[in-house]
This record gives sequence, structure tokens and C-alpha cells, in this order.
Amino acid sequence: MKSSCVLLTALVALAAYYVYIPLPSSVSDPWKLRLLDAAFRSAQQVSNLIHYLGLSHHLLVLNFIIDSLGKKSAWSSAQVKVTDTDFDGVEVRVFEGSPKPEEPLKRSVLYIHGGGWALASAKTKNYDELCTTLAEELNAVIVSIEYRLVPKVYFPEQIHDVVRATKYFLQPEVLHKYSVDPGRIGISGDSAGGNLAAALSQQLNQDTNLKNKVKVQALIYPVLQALDFNTPSYQQNANTPILPRYVMVKYWVDYFKGNYDFVQEMIVNNHTSLDVEEAAALRAHLNWTSLLPASIKKNYKPVVQTTGNARIIQKIPQLLDVRSAPLIADQEVLRGLPKTYILTCEHDVVRDDGIMYAKRLEKAGVEVTLDHFESCFHGCVIFASWPTYFSVGIQTQNSYIKWLNQNL
Ligand SMILES: *[C@@H]1O[C@H](CO)[C@@H](O)[C@H](O)[C@H]1NC(C)=O
Ligand SMILES: *[C@@H]1O[C@H](CO)[C@@H](O)[C@H](O)[C@H]1NC(C)=O
Repeated sequence: MKSSCVLLTALVALAAYYVYIPLPSSVSDPWKLRLLDAAFRSAQQVSNLIHYLGLSHHLLVLNFIIDSLGKKSAWSSAQVKVTDTDFDGVEVRVFEGSPKPEEPLKRSVLYIHGGGWALASAKTKNYDELCTTLAEELNAVIVSIEYRLVPKVYFPEQIHDVVRATKYFLQPEVLHKYSVDPGRIGISGDSAGGNLAAALSQQLNQDTNLKNKVKVQALIYPVLQALDFNTPSYQQNANTPILPRYVMVKYWVDYFKGNYDFVQEMIVNNHTSLDVEEAAALRAHLNWTSLLPASIKKNYKPVVQTTGNARIIQKIPQLLDVRSAPLIADQEVLRGLPKTYILTCEHDVVRDDGIMYAKRLEKAGVEVTLDHFESCFHGCVIFASWPTYFSVGIQTQNSYIKWLNQNL
């Protein structure tokens, strides 16, 4: 009896130690966030172990765990018709709001889910629910793109998939089939999906055949660059849950089929040091000392290495590719982009990617709404229902949908 008590106490202490992580006092629902983070961390550790044993790729295992927690089949309700189909060979899940006699043509959003270019699906419960809500509240047609993931395919295949599905959808006969108003189409995505959405918008903007097809882009905490992992938000949130800095850097490396050997060097910006010539011209495009407001910069100092490791860019040139890092696009590419919404969270490594992009778009003459949430963390928008319910999930989702409703 006594020994089992000791054992139990030890286990509880161990669990508490595992779950407890220090969090800034302004984070909403800190204990729920710790539990969610602990669950995600354990899933990552199990995946890494299986990878280490040589049984499977860790991202496949992690995605399997995520899938097993809830994938929804295409289930239509009275309000929203849900169908799985493919657009030019790319799988999509389409959510159609019910027809309204007074509005024969519907608005539409092409949605790109997040998950580090490697995880989740249009069928993941949380994404299925978000798209259903969008279809219902906007009375719109939502096309959730099931692009292929790492490690099945790598950059730039994910972009090719979303471009292919989008171009198929934008054809007049397809829009007609879904009763979509060609003048009221938006592109949206969260996290890595926000990265793909931003890249997609830039590509469409440069495609003269398709100009003016898209009315708005709405980017939810988008990941927009891999050149500087020491923006104030990367420094401030290096260990913040759901997406600590080293995890984000690893998603980037995986996206490019790179090698983890460089992760520690990339964290100190050795890949974009002053002696790396390829990066020199791009540095001004993400110069946060001039792009971020003082309230965000606080007392953080830029991390610019004089000498680093030129081999990193030689091995992974994709790091400097504008299709992977929409933030570094030339001003001419940004000019003419559709009206833009960017949602950012205070407790998020990629917060400043979004704030800098908003600033650069504004300078290029694009109308931008930056919707910043002080108590929120990366990923919160999809955590709006049991068992991952957060009040900030509802709050951010409502704000995003309200903007779409007013601007699309
Ligand atoms: C970044 O901006 C600061 C302040 O405007 C400026 O002094 C600095 O030269 C810029 N650096 C680069 C690389 O453009
Ligand atoms: C970054 O590069 C410098 C110069 O090559 C090197 O001395 C340093 O160890 C590197 N930093 C890391 C974290 O590897």
C-alpha cells in the first residue's frame, strides 16, 4: 500500500513536470493550453521514437495519430452540403451553403489547411468544422484543398497542387456548376496553409489570364519566411507551446527535404549571415527594424551573423525561394494583390512574419486589415470545439468570419 502511494505520487509529480511549462500571464486558458501542448509533445515523441527505430517516417506517424483522433466523412446537413471530389486530379472537399432565392450566386473561399506542410487534412475534424461554419455563416461555397503532404511530396509540389485545384475551380463552367459569383472569390489558409495561400495569391496575381479573379485573401497566422529565425516574435516565443522555434525550423527543413544537421545553425541565422551573398539582396525585404512598430520590437536586437555557413543555402536553396517565402517578394509582385486580412497572435513565433507582410503590402498599395490578438497562441483558430475548446478559438474565428462577411 505504502509503496503504491509513493509510486502514485511519483507518477503524478512526473506528469505535472511533463505538463507544466511556464507561460506568459497574458495567455488565455493556460492549463488547457499546457494539456494540449503535452498531448502534442507526447505524440511527437512517440513519432520520433518510431522514426529512430527505422519503422516509419516520424511525420507519417504523427499524421496517423492526428488522423486517428478524428477525421470526418463527407456528411451533409440541411444547411451545408459536403462532397469529396477532385479538381484536375487534386482532391478537394467542397462545402456548399444552402441556396437562397434572393441570392442565386454564392460567395466562395478556397481554403488551405495548416500543419507544417506535412500534417492534417481537409477531413480533420477541426478543419471540417471550420469550413462547415464558413459555408453556413457566409452562405458560401468553401473548397478545402487536400494538397499532398510531406513526406509524400516536397516543396514546391504543395504549391503546384493548390494552384492546379484553384485554376480548375476558377473556370467559368465550374463556377457556374457550383453557382459561384465569379466576382466574390477569396483565398484563405492558416499557418503553413496561410503560407500556401499567400504564394497562391502571388502566382494568380502574376497570371495575366486570371487577373481580378480573386477578391480577397485572408491569412491566419501565416508562415512567410525562413531567412530570419530571430524576429522579435521568434525570440520572444522560442519555447511557446504548439509551435516552439526549433519545431518550426524542422517543418521548414522537412518541407525542403533537407537535413536536420543544419537546424541549430539556422536558429542563430547562420544560413543568412552577411557573408552569404545570395541572401544579401533579400535582407531589406524582411528588415524588421524598419518594418515592425516599436511596440512589437521592444528591446529585441537583430541577430545578424558576420560569418555563418554558406553551405546551408547551397544545400537548401529553396530557403530563399519566393514561393516558399512570400514575404521576400519584390514590391512589383505585391502590387495589385487582392484586399488582405492577416490574423496574428501575440504568443506565436510567426507573429512578425504576418505583421511585416501587412506592412509591405500596405507600402505596395494593397488594402490590409491586421487583426492582432494579445492573449492568443499559434493554432487557436481551429480550437473551437470539444475536446479542444478554447474561448480564444471562438473569438478569433468570429473575427475572421466577420471580416470575410464584410469584405468578400
Ligand atoms: C534596416 O533598416 C534600418 C532602419 O531603417 C536601416 O538602418 C538598415 O540599414 C536596414 N538594413 C538593411 C539590410 O536594409
Ligand atoms: C555559426 O557559424 C559560425 C561561423 O562559421 C560558427 O562559429 C558557429 O559555431 C555557428 N553556430 C552554430 C550554432 O553552429
